[in-house]
Amino acid sequence: MTTTDVLIIGSGIGGLTTAIKIAEARPDLRIVVLTKTNEGESNTRYAQGGVAAVWDVEVDSTLKHREDTLDAGDGLCDEKVVDIVVTEGPTRVQEIIDWGARFDRKADNKGEYDLGREGGHSENRILHYKDLTGWEMQRTLIEKTDQIKNIEVLEHYFAVDLITQHHLGYAVTRLMPNVECYGAYALNKQTGVIETFLSRITVVATGGAGQVYRATTNPVIASGDGIAMAYRAKAWIENMEFVQFHPTALYNPGGDNPVFLVSEAVRGFGGILKDNKGVEFMEKYDRRKSLAPRDIVARAIDNEMKIRGEECMYLDCRHLDKEHFIGHFPTIYEKCVSIGIDPMQDMIPVTPACHYMCGGIKTDTKGRTSIKRLFAVGECTSTGLHGANRLASNSLLEAMVFAHHIAHELVQEIDTVTHKAGIPDWNAGGTTDPKEMVLITQSIKELKEIMSSYVGIVRTNVRMKRALDRLWLLHQETENLYHSTTISPQLCELRNLINIAYLVTRSASMRRESRGLHYNTDYPNKQEFIQTIIL
Ligand code: FAD
Ligand code: SIN
Repeated sequence: MTTTDVLIIGSGIGGLTTAIKIAEARPDLRIVVLTKTNEGESNTRYAQGGVAAVWDVEVDSTLKHREDTLDAGDGLCDEKVVDIVVTEGPTRVQEIIDWGARFDRKADNKGEYDLGREGGHSENRILHYKDLTGWEMQRTLIEKTDQIKNIEVLEHYFAVDLITQHHLGYAVTRLMPNVECYGAYALNKQTGVIETFLSRITVVATGGAGQVYRATTNPVIASGDGIAMAYRAKAWIENMEFVQFHPTALYNPGGDNPVFLVSEAVRGFGGILKDNKGVEFMEKYDRRKSLAPRDIVARAIDNEMKIRGEECMYLDCRHLDKEHFIGHFPTIYEKCVSIGIDPMQDMIPVTPACHYMCGGIKTDTKGRTSIKRLFAVGECTSTGLHGANRLASNSLLEAMVFAHHIAHELVQEIDTVTHKAGIPDWNAGGTTDPKEMVLITQSIKELKEIMSSYVGIVRTNVRMKRALDRLWLLHQETENLYHSTTISPQLCELRNLINIAYLVTRSASMRRESRGLHYNTDYPNKQEFIQTIIL
């Protein structure tokens, strides 16, 4: 058993920023960060476009950033939260710059930041490092963490379940006001042993769940583990129907996992969406054309593909300056060339792919979940910022802003709580080694097919009903396997993905309207007020 003051699950921007801020405020606390592969592997690492923050105050303002965020969120953002994020965002960005993060500057001598534009933004406000912004931010956070003595990062530890009163033999329900978290059980992937991490306060920072769909820009770590663990621990989960599909993943008939992203910043730079004959089509859908918010662009591409029977649409960059393009998007350029597409000569084939989970563990403005002693930060949360659709490049910003709030709150609360006594070790009795790994891989494939076919960009009641029926079978089979075999990361991921698929489909079925990222042809209009918290 490991005893720590603070347990943080996840080493992306949410987890590491929270760890650094707590450690700086309280060098006397022991902070353990668990991460299921290596410290640098996360959604954060792959962020391309950048981080949105009001920087050029002569033309931009927090009011404009606020309006753009609310507009994208299609009526479901929490305005208080939006105000917090757009107002405090620039200070948090300056902080990571002070820790060593580099963002591109203009070529002129004034040294101003080269602010990019993405869909739904009325001004240029995206700070970026080429098309490798996330890599640069993750690098900075790892280097900063390494310098801090009271943070220990444990790699290859897979958190399996959060510990609550349930593990002491008490019945726990989602409506109980006093559920408490005492730490987590985590599988040491090197030894195969499930270890107990007892903590005074726990922070879930496990990122998104893109792997629940067949085509996703998210790396394989994004299996929604934190949301699923919190759900099983009886935390409140909300807005799971709002799954963001990025309009422009590189079309890839070979089925790569993940699919490669062609950043929205390419459209901000002048790339134009066209059909296979080179004709623009976005003006039929929105006055902002290729730079409309993502829900609109992804649906437009999906619709054009369906009416034409095509497998992709195209992004035309041939008119752009080659040197500038390569300077801004070296990774995208290289990737295209590696598969035989020269963006300066050929249109880039693109198709929508699952990209971001707007819903998640419900938190308040301090990052508190509905479970005591449990905070959550980053993509696994539903803070109220994104509403029905996230504005591009608001995610890295949200994680930094709430990491700051959590640290502030946590260092005050921690002195009032002690470690819980009597937590039992994980009981692995009665389980045998899994012999049929193929059952797990096949179930993951089936799950992705179900979600992609029936709960994708365009939904109907019949499709969602079919998805729920199929998911129930998968759930039963997987629970049997879980209770009868030795636990492996693959089995845990399957189980978590089934929980996520259920939450997305149930929430989508409950929302009898179309709004933001949720589009149901049986209810094409908006309704007054619907809340999708699953009890
Ligand atoms: P992550 O960065 O995903 O970190 C999650 C961590 O939790 C990882 O370390 C993972 O290993 C760990 N973990 C997960 N489960 C477990 C477990 N069971 N046990 C132990 N550890 C676990 N957003 C923007 O704002 N701007 C962009 O330009 C942008 N571009 C993007 C491009 C791509 C290709 C992708 C995929 C996303 C992009 N996003 C962007 C979204 C943004 O990157 C993510 O929302 C954000 O980085 C999430 O940070 P996080 O800390 O919440 O999670
Ligand atoms: C992109 O670069 O297009 C992704 C930006 C984001 O998801 O915020």
